[in-house]
Amino acid sequence: MQLLDGKKLAQEIKKEIAAEVNRLRQANQRLPKLALILVGNRSDSVSYVNSKEKNCHALGMECIKYHLPEETTQEALLQILQQLNDDSNVDGILVQLPLPAHIDTGRVLENIDYQKDADGLHHVNLGLMLMGDPYVLPCTPNGILHILKRYNIPMDGQKAVVVGRSILVGAPTAILLQQHHATVTQCHSHTRNLAEICRDADIVVTAAGVPGLLRPEDLKDGAVLVDVAMNHDDNGLCGDIYSKSTAPVLEQRLAAATPVPGGVGPMTIAMLMYNVLQLYKKHETSK
Ligand code: GUN
Repeated sequence: MQLLDGKKLAQEIKKEIAAEVNRLRQANQRLPKLALILVGNRSDSVSYVNSKEKNCHALGMECIKYHLPEETTQEALLQILQQLNDDSNVDGILVQLPLPAHIDTGRVLENIDYQKDADGLHHVNLGLMLMGDPYVLPCTPNGILHILKRYNIPMDGQKAVVVGRSILVGAPTAILLQQHHATVTQCHSHTRNLAEICRDADIVVTAAGVPGLLRPEDLKDGAVLVDVAMNHDDNGLCGDIYSKSTAPVLEQRLAAATPVPGGVGPMTIAMLMYNVLQLYKKHETSK
């Protein structure tokens, strides 16, 4: 089985970004800047946002982080977004999801200037992606695509199953796979006979967040697994299928798989950094 090493690929991509940012620094140019907004103290979100901040600095980009209390009002959050939209030194804005229940996520996302939407989740950006003319792509789906391309995994004419339909991962991943000519079946929590559907697939992408959702024998011999989930089991981090205990069986049966950890996770951050640099370039050329 080919290990689809997202960690290594992410490092390669980040190295290229760092080199480009360094060239800007040498030329005394303005540097790309990302604004990160976290509302509340969910421990997973705190660690994701800290990691995004650390990566910005490691790549030489500027970063401003707003860590707001759980009880922050929607109005206050929208006001901060307005300031960031108006700040010509800010190239990218990311509001970490999920937001507390009293805040309307759709309303927040639509109030980010779509030209500063580092996550690619603004309805204009989702629409442009759907039209096949993207301005900026959602990070995790784009990371998945980069992995499949880098490892020459064929998509054209292949049967792909995407388990999950979130705006962050499942829905855009299904669209992108389809645009690469895969025949896509989108599955979710209401799908009947999930295992049966997956057994017929050449590529299975899982983003359900349910450890053990599918067993290795629910994938066909020679299939490709992209396991997006970050769950915990008794042995530490695991995916929906990939874990320390299933890895040896997967190794025997599959053509290729992303490990957890070290697969899709690192690519999400690399794609975020890539998006910030792309937004910066578009921003600079439109001046
Ligand atoms: N929460 C989990 N993953 C992500 C992501 O990629 N972007 C945002 N904004 N929130 C997330």
